Amino acid sequence: MSTDKLIALLRANGQEHLLAFWDKLDAAEQGALAGQIEAIDFPLIRKLYAQRDHQAGMGELAARAEPPPAFRLNSDSNPFSAQQARDRGVQALRAGELGVILTAGGQGTRLGFHRPKGMYPIGPLSKKSLFQIHVEKIVAAARRYSVRIPLFIMTSPATHAETEAFFAEHGRFGLPEDDLMLFCQGTMPAVDERTGAVLLAAPSRIALSPDGHGGLLAALLGSGALERIENRKIRHLFYLQVDNPLVDICGPEFVGYHLLSGSEFSSQVVAKRDPLERVGNVVKVDGRLMVIEYSDLPEQAARRRNPDGSLAIWAGSIAVHVIDARLLRRVATQAESLPFHIARKKVPHVDPAGRRVEPSQPNALKFERFIFDLMPMARNAVVVEVDPVRAFSPLKNASGAKGDTPETVRAALIGQYRDWLCRAGVEVADDVAVEISPLYAMDAEELAAKVPRGMRIMEPTYLEV
Ligand code: UD1
Repeated sequence: MSTDKLIALLRANGQEHLLAFWDKLDAAEQGALAGQIEAIDFPLIRKLYAQRDHQAGMGELAARAEPPPAFRLNSDSNPFSAQQARDRGVQALRAGELGVILTAGGQGTRLGFHRPKGMYPIGPLSKKSLFQIHVEKIVAAARRYSVRIPLFIMTSPATHAETEAFFAEHGRFGLPEDDLMLFCQGTMPAVDERTGAVLLAAPSRIALSPDGHGGLLAALLGSGALERIENRKIRHLFYLQVDNPLVDICGPEFVGYHLLSGSEFSSQVVAKRDPLERVGNVVKVDGRLMVIEYSDLPEQAARRRNPDGSLAIWAGSIAVHVIDARLLRRVATQAESLPFHIARKKVPHVDPAGRRVEPSQPNALKFERFIFDLMPMARNAVVVEVDPVRAFSPLKNASGAKGDTPETVRAALIGQYRDWLCRAGVEVADDVAVEISPLYAMDAEELAAKVPRGMRIMEPTYLEV
C-alpha cells in the first residue's frame, strides 16, 4: 500500500496518529508498520469500541443460571456408567477418530518466564518441559490404541518461532512429522480506553496481543489445519491448554461420555471448593450451556447455595474439552463466529510526543475471543466432573505466589505418581520424589502391570523406558 493510501485508510478511520513518527522511521520500519496497519480490521475495532459499555450483563445471566447437565463423580444417577463411557471412548480411539489441539499462544506474563510456557521444565526429577509431557502422553496413547493421533498446536506471534525451534531440536519428542502441525493465532490491537485510538507500542510498532484462545477457529481455518483434520477423518478434537500437566489426554472415559451424549462440546469441570475460586463457571441459562468467568461472576451469585448446602454454581471449568470437528467447521465459517470479550488492561505505549508510558492503572481495552463460547452453539453440550487432585494443577504463577506455582504443580505430579505406585502395590518411602514417564506408564493400571512385585522406593526415582 502506498503512503497516500495508508494515510487515506487511517484518516477514514480516525487513526492518523499511527503515522505520527513515519518520517523518522527507516524503510524497514515503515514497511513493518504498514504491514501491521493493513492487517487491522478497523471497522471491527470501531464496532467493538462502541460496544464497550454494553457487554452481556453477566450479573443478570448469573442470577438465572441453573446447573449444567453433568456426569458427576461417584454418582449412580448418571445416564451412562464409567465403564460404558470407557468402552465407547476406546472404540473411537481405536478407529483413529481423535486428534489433539493444544493452545499455547498465551504469553505467560504471570509466570515471569520469558519463553513459551510449554518450554517450562516442570518434570519434578526429569525436568521435562510441559510440551514434552503432553506429547509423550499422545505418543503413548497412539501406541496403546495402534493408531496415529495428530497434534495441532496453536502458537502466537510471540511464541511461534521458539516453539517451532524447540520441537525441531528435540525430534518432536517422538511424534511423527506428519502428526504435528503448528499454526499461529491472530492478534488484535489495544486501544486507548478514553478515545478508541489504537496504541503504538513503539514508534514503528502497534500494541498487538494474541486474540484469545477463541482465535483458534480463525487460525484453524486460515492455516489449513481444519482441512487437514477433515482430510484425515478426525472427528473429535481433544482440547487442552498448555499449562496443566495432569490432563489425561485422550482419556477414553471423558471421550466416551461426550460420544454417548451426542454432544458437540463437552467440558471437564471440578466441583468448586470455594465460591470465589478463580475458574470459569459452567452454567445453563435459557437452556444453553455457557461459561461465566470468575471475574464476571457477582459475589452474591457465586455464594448462592442449594437447600443441601452445596454451591448452586458449582462447576468450575478446567479448560479441557472434547469438540466435534463439525462444530468447528460450522462456527469457523460463520461471519460473526465467536464474540469478543473486552478487558480493561494496563498497556505500555508511546504518547504523541514519542515518550514511553508505563501506566499504573488500566488505560486500554483489549479484545479477546474464548473457545468456551462455542458451548452455547453446540448441540447437547455436557460437563464431566473430574477429581481436581488427579486432573487439575495449572502452572500460572511464579514461585512465591499463593498457588498454581512450579512448586504446587510439581507436588501435584509427584502426588499422582505416588498414588499410582501405591495402587500398584509399590512401597514408597515418605517424602521421596517420584516421577513416571508417560512412555513408561499412562495410568495406574499400566503401571501395576509393569512394576516388579515387591518393589520398594526409598530414594528419588524416575521411572522411564
Ligand atoms: C483459563 C480460563 C478459565 C479456566 C482456567 C483453568 C479463560 C478466559 N479462562 O483462565 O475459565 O478456569 O483457564 O486453568 O480462558 N491462550 C492462547 N492464546 C491466547 C490466550 C490464551 O493460546 O490468546 C492459551 C494460553 O497459552 C493458555 C490458555 O490459553 O494455555 C489459558 O489462558 P490464560 O490466560 O492463562 O487463562 P486463565 O485466566 O488462567
